[in-house]
Amino acid sequence: MLAHVARPEEILNSPAVSAGLLRVEKRIHRLSTSSRLPLINGAAGRITGAGGKRLRAALTLATALALGGRIDNRVVTAAACVELIHAGSLVHDDLMDKAAERRGVRTLNAELGDARALVVGDFMLARAGLAALSVVSKPVARTLASVVVELAEGQFQEVAELFDPGRTPEDALRSITGKTAALFRASCLVAHPDGRSMAEYGERFGVLFQILDDLLDLASTAERLGKPVGNDIRQGVYTLPLLLALQHDHGDLRPLLGRRLSEDEITALLTRLRGGRMVDDTLEYCRGLASDALSSLPVIADPEIAAALYGLPAACIDWTESLLVR
Ligand code: IPE
Ligand code: IPE
Ligand code: MG
Ligand code: MG
Repeated sequence: MLAHVARPEEILNSPAVSAGLLRVEKRIHRLSTSSRLPLINGAAGRITGAGGKRLRAALTLATALALGGRIDNRVVTAAACVELIHAGSLVHDDLMDKAAERRGVRTLNAELGDARALVVGDFMLARAGLAALSVVSKPVARTLASVVVELAEGQFQEVAELFDPGRTPEDALRSITGKTAALFRASCLVAHPDGRSMAEYGERFGVLFQILDDLLDLASTAERLGKPVGNDIRQGVYTLPLLLALQHDHGDLRPLLGRRLSEDEITALLTRLRGGRMVDDTLEYCRGLASDALSSLPVIADPEIAAALYGLPAACIDWTESLLVR
């Protein structure tokens, strides 16, 4: 029998975190359906209601507990705001990626068109900022506003480097740090006034998380992920796993860069990448990041939370491995 591989979101869900997440879920729903326009509520509520792992919210709650805090109304709202920003950024990301599926349901751009998806995404980002300011605190609202800036910068960098055959692993890492790791960092920062000690862990974990997602885009299936695969190459995003594979290119990969590929070329490229060193090299790279993340964890008194935070990076790597096709 195959061994059970825990989903990343199961790792953080201690009883206290799970109880907090139920409250966060209600808050996410309330915030994403708080417009005076029912059409906005329907659209925003559809994407937040379709699930998602709630990993960032769980990280906020776990950080609060790790640093000796409580899961009170402010922490619940902060966690909901983080998820709302994440979901809003996904609405924009799907629009940019021309993706038709997210969280197993049709994307807003596919369902309502790009213009409506664009403003629903704006609504979600702005609504999170407003809730943070009115319910949590000014510093938390500032942290979340900064994160939206970093997100925009990271995404901008990515689109500015589309189809760039000269893109380096450092370029990819810089973009990831803004578009993904900044929000994981903020998920920790908003949890507790001393959240800085956890922020580095969050950031390193965020880089690792995005690289694993990039690997899945190249080496998994849409059925397993609930979102398309091969989309990064299709859109011209040369992600870190691909850039690592290029370091051992024998001349068959490079000619495929710098231009749009046909569906047949994409299929052939994915097959070649899956059969080469890309998967192993990326997983090894991620194990290095996981160990860096653990080295930045503060001392945590609660043994259950400590074990969860220690276990999370490796659990994500194991879960990713279980979704790969080779
Ligand atoms: C998707 O994030 C976007 C990335 C940063 C890779 P998640 O994989 O956490 O998405 P949900 O929230 O579970 O849908
Ligand atoms: C993450 O990048 C998007 C954001 C951080 C906004 P991806 O484009 O890789 O995310 P997926 O794969 O569509 O979920
Ligand atoms: Mg995308
Ligand atoms: Mg992706």
